[in-house]
Amino acid sequence: MNSNREWLAEHGGQAPPSLDLRPDVPHPARIYDYWLDGKDNFPPDRAAAEHAISASPDIPAAARENRAFLHRAVRLAAEAGIRQFIDIGSGLPTQGNVHDAVHAIDPTARVVYIDNDPIVLAHGRALLADNSTTTVLTGDLRDLDELLDRPELRALIDLSQPVALLLLAVLHFVNDEQARAAVQAVHSRLAPGSYLLLSHSTGEGNPERAAEVAKTWKSTDTGINFRGHAAVEEFFEGWELLEPGVTFVPLWRPDGSTANTTRWMYAGVGRKG
Ligand SMILES: C[S@@+](CC[C@H](N)C(=O)[O-])C[C@H]1O[C@@H](n2cnc3c(N)ncnc32)[C@H](O)[C@@H]1O
Repeated sequence: MNSNREWLAEHGGQAPPSLDLRPDVPHPARIYDYWLDGKDNFPPDRAAAEHAISASPDIPAAARENRAFLHRAVRLAAEAGIRQFIDIGSGLPTQGNVHDAVHAIDPTARVVYIDNDPIVLAHGRALLADNSTTTVLTGDLRDLDELLDRPELRALIDLSQPVALLLLAVLHFVNDEQARAAVQAVHSRLAPGSYLLLSHSTGEGNPERAAEVAKTWKSTDTGINFRGHAAVEEFFEGWELLEPGVTFVPLWRPDGSTANTTRWMYAGVGRKG
């Protein structure tokens, strides 16, 4: 196995001095990268990702449909006039990142990516070397208040103005109390007119396969908490939930860009009144 530094250089990333990729442990960001046909994953990540595919072959399609939801929801916020985006649990850069979607509408809009896996920082910095409107930070959604006070975030984001905050396919990696605390902090800290964009894994659409698919994350540091429709809807307490409410990801304002067949995730968009 190459060193972290050599591996990243080969894969287009730049290693901060203290980076430890822990290639022997599967990581959610790299498992997801494999489903999206990325190349930033190690053998244990691929084995975990393949386990999910063998339990349910539509898992990579679910990842792609989640990215398509990201696009639709980000566009909605940008077309409503939002020019500041915070993407928490952003994952490895892939096709159709938030800044690509937003900058197609307004190249001056600001985007902050945050992920607790340092590999995201290493790749994001390389991708965004010349981009003064976008940055990548390492941080954890369980420290949301602290994240929103970071000088690097405040350099791009004015919290007195509306923001679109993304929690896509990430809240299922924390427990109920931590997830609730995060969405409550988002609501209390963001200005009126802000948007919450959320997607979340569920077993409800595939009850007979959910337990086997959930084993995919058993050997990661996080595990996974599939949640039901009612629990995902509760995350929007205090937000005006936009039509069509919380739905399976592909059914949220479909635009015909994907086959719309998977039922592994719920999604919704809320606006703070
Ligand atoms: C399945 S990927 C989703 C990527 C992207 N949000 C999307 O929906 O396409 C989940 C990401 O969340 C990150 N993550 C997991 N737990 C986290 C936490 N507690 N705080 C911040 N990021 C986290 C992982 O490292 C991974 O990159």
